[in-house]
Amino acid sequence: MRRVIIAGNWKMNKNISESIDLANSIKRSLYDIEEVEIVICPPFTSLSDVNEITMETNIKLGAQDCFWEKEGAFTGEVSAGMLKSVGCEYCIIGHSERRQFFGETNETVNKKLKVLLKENIKPIVCVGEKLEERKSGRTFDVIKDHVVNSLAGISKEEMVRTVIAYEPVWAIGTGVNATKEQAEEAHKYIRTLLGQMHGDDVAKSVRIQYGGSVKPENIKELILQEDVDGALVGGASLKADSFVQLVKNCL
Ligand code: 13P
Repeated sequence: MRRVIIAGNWKMNKNISESIDLANSIKRSLYDIEEVEIVICPPFTSLSDVNEITMETNIKLGAQDCFWEKEGAFTGEVSAGMLKSVGCEYCIIGHSERRQFFGETNETVNKKLKVLLKENIKPIVCVGEKLEERKSGRTFDVIKDHVVNSLAGISKEEMVRTVIAYEPVWAIGTGVNATKEQAEEAHKYIRTLLGQMHGDDVAKSVRIQYGGSVKPENIKELILQEDVDGALVGGASLKADSFVQLVKNCL
């Protein structure tokens, strides 16, 4: 059985005191939830303080990106080892905002994936098509390109430790989520690709989150789909009330 995983991607929001407040509220309300795996991904500057709050609780800590080199003259970058040292168990890579604004490619995602796996941090690899790609019938081609190339060259065991987030770009921050049918269709296709790459047993074990305008009101119908194993949540993860409700609605 794949355990549902709900991850909050705070993006570039919350200074340190705001992060502490939000993490404390989430912990207070969700401390006894075991059925759902809960991850919060604050900005780099808040990771250390949030780790003090989530350490040894059921709330896991994640980062929003990393660099693939171990150390050195790479001004502004943060290594996987540094993320490990601050308590991160997860790290988002390949988010569409990074692909769109910061030159992220499947090749750079793949390098980050490998270094995270080596550091024993679970990668959350984002894939998904833009609106014009969907409109021109290229959704599956884009998903295949992202999945096959971002996830190239890893072992079956590493694949099972990796989480995939299907985030159609047109659904991110727009209030228009993919319908449950659209999400299931994409997730099923991703699982088929994983089966071709690593065999059916691996494909059945990998968790695939949906992301894009997920709210407390729509989470249930999404996770009831056979191949939807949770959500990567932006806007609705920034307020304790909505994130807590969203997690509780998965139970
Ligand atoms: P929203 O939930 O705000 O649409 O953002 C989704 C997202 O990009 C999560 O990574």
